[in-house]
Amino acid sequence: MRNIIKPFSTSSSPSYVQNHISWSLVQTIIGIGSLIVLAPLFFCVSTNQCIYHQKMALLHHDQVHDYNGDKQSKVTSSPPLSSILRPFNGASSDHYYYPLNLIKKNQQTGDYYDEKLKKIESELGSVRVFLKEIAAVSIHQNSSTTHEDINSGDGPDYYIPNGQIYRNPYLFHRSYQLMEKMFKIFVYEEGEPPLFHDGPCKNIYSTEGMFINTLEMDAKFRTRDPDEAHVFFLPFSVVKILTYLFHPKVRDKAVLGRTIGDYIRIISQKYPYWNRTLGADHFMLSCHDWGPRATWYVPQLYYNSIRVLCNANTSEYFNPKKDASFPEINIRTDSITGLLGGPPPSERTILAFFAGGIHGFLRRPLLKHWKEKDEDLRIYEKLPENISYEEMMHKSKYCICPSGYEVASPRIVEAIYAECVPVLISQHYILPFSDVLNWTSFSVQISVSEIPNLKRILMDIPYDRYVRMQERVKQVQRHFVMNDPPKRYDVFHMIVHSVWLRRLNAQML
Ligand SMILES: *[C@@H]1O[C@H](CO)[C@@H](O)[C@H](O)[C@H]1NC(C)=O
Ligand SMILES: *[C@@H]1O[C@H](CO)[C@@H](O)[C@H](O)[C@H]1NC(C)=O
Ligand SMILES: *[C@@H]1O[C@H](CO)[C@@H](O)[C@H](O)[C@H]1NC(C)=O
Ligand SMILES: *[C@@H]1O[C@H](CO)[C@@H](O)[C@H](O)[C@H]1NC(C)=O
Ligand SMILES: *[C@@H]1O[C@H](CO)[C@@H](O)[C@H](O)[C@H]1NC(C)=O
Repeated sequence: MRNIIKPFSTSSSPSYVQNHISWSLVQTIIGIGSLIVLAPLFFCVSTNQCIYHQKMALLHHDQVHDYNGDKQSKVTSSPPLSSILRPFNGASSDHYYYPLNLIKKNQQTGDYYDEKLKKIESELGSVRVFLKEIAAVSIHQNSSTTHEDINSGDGPDYYIPNGQIYRNPYLFHRSYQLMEKMFKIFVYEEGEPPLFHDGPCKNIYSTEGMFINTLEMDAKFRTRDPDEAHVFFLPFSVVKILTYLFHPKVRDKAVLGRTIGDYIRIISQKYPYWNRTLGADHFMLSCHDWGPRATWYVPQLYYNSIRVLCNANTSEYFNPKKDASFPEINIRTDSITGLLGGPPPSERTILAFFAGGIHGFLRRPLLKHWKEKDEDLRIYEKLPENISYEEMMHKSKYCICPSGYEVASPRIVEAIYAECVPVLISQHYILPFSDVLNWTSFSVQISVSEIPNLKRILMDIPYDRYVRMQERVKQVQRHFVMNDPPKRYDVFHMIVHSVWLRRLNAQML
């Protein structure tokens, strides 16, 4: 518990976080317990690292969704959305400061002129030119082995991206290789667990903890020398901040603003890096529904920094040019094997399957039209006890993945693991890794208005096209698997690659 009392190892300024946590701790000790929501499911037992190996277990749906959107919010001292989401510094809201523009600007004005950053930028500049040349010639060209692949070993990590699951396999391959060769991430050391350098390893927000914890232990991309870093990671966990500081009755969401605001003030006073680009080469990551909200309180974080979010809702100002979408994966235990894989198409006798509550507005029409109405379309609000969720995913050709309270759904990765072709029903959702992956080649996307025709649409897909999609679902699995330690091209590496592309301002389209 020593750590909880000292969230910042170096802060000399009065810190909201520090005071608040110490006070909370006292409250806990004297037994006024309810202030801190200690959700035991969120703890990583004993180690600083999430342990997955190949053994993963998925949580059943509609279980603990601790902060289910804004709906129940009554009391809040957060500033109103309109006061935060306005352009600052006279820029229009669709104009974002990219590192490159900022650096050029700062060189002209003489502000924050920085030789080291200039060197980093010229390095990235040659990567941009190289990738642009490849993009111009390589659409739909398959990759082939290069000496980098040979040097990277031909063990289980050996892989060459190829085929329809990618928008541009060759471009992705070369970009990925350059990332492995060059990309350096600096993680600020300020802040202590549990709010910083730590995150949830279980439950629906587990990818947040997986990334934070994996990067802590990483030796491939992480650098201890900020002068050679291409990007700077802000190692706070929105899930942990809410777990420890959010009062379920008072519901003061501004704890996020105070904690994160404090943190950015500290690192921007102590180091030159934040001011140098006004945060544009910094990134944060959160899988929580309120991940976007957590960035509202610091305009430079919100407008300039790279935000890696599960809740990638463009209606909530997710900007796919600068922000990256990553998947929600629901982890229950680390001791059950056999989650990856499923029977071949010929053994899948049910057309489609879904089970879940009316969470969010998209589920209502789905259940209204199809709940327990059709033998082929098995749609349940509550799965009968004698029916196994996993078994249903294995017996079905298609798994329906509608958004719930937020756009991301752990069902998408569950379907991919079970080799069941995902049917995506969402609005304003930027799919994970969609700058690299061609989602239309391995999923079906239908709009809300098409829900009444769901059965017809799925029946109309020719069997051979279904078989090809199912084959590709198997191929894409590796990009959604968590490994400890991470393996090339797995979900950790895909997230790092998304950040790399944002730092380059490169689009794979
Ligand atoms: C490209 O790779 C895919 C998957 O490995 C393969 O099915 C396809 O035939 C290849 N295409 C060409 C033109 O080589
Ligand atoms: C960065 O800018 C802020 C606000 O202008 C200032 O308070 C801080 O001292 C600056 N940091 C450094 C390292 O100069
Ligand atoms: C599950 O139980 C219901 C009755 O409660 C029964 O009608 C149904 O056939 C059972 N299903 C299976 C797969 O055993
Ligand atoms: C996306 O954001 C909009 C605007 O805040 C909201 O109305 C909508 O419910 C969000 N989508 C989901 C699925 O939560
Ligand atoms: C994506 O996949 C679809 C279906 O296989 C294909 O028609 C389309 O050309 C692909 N798009 C890209 C950009 O590769």
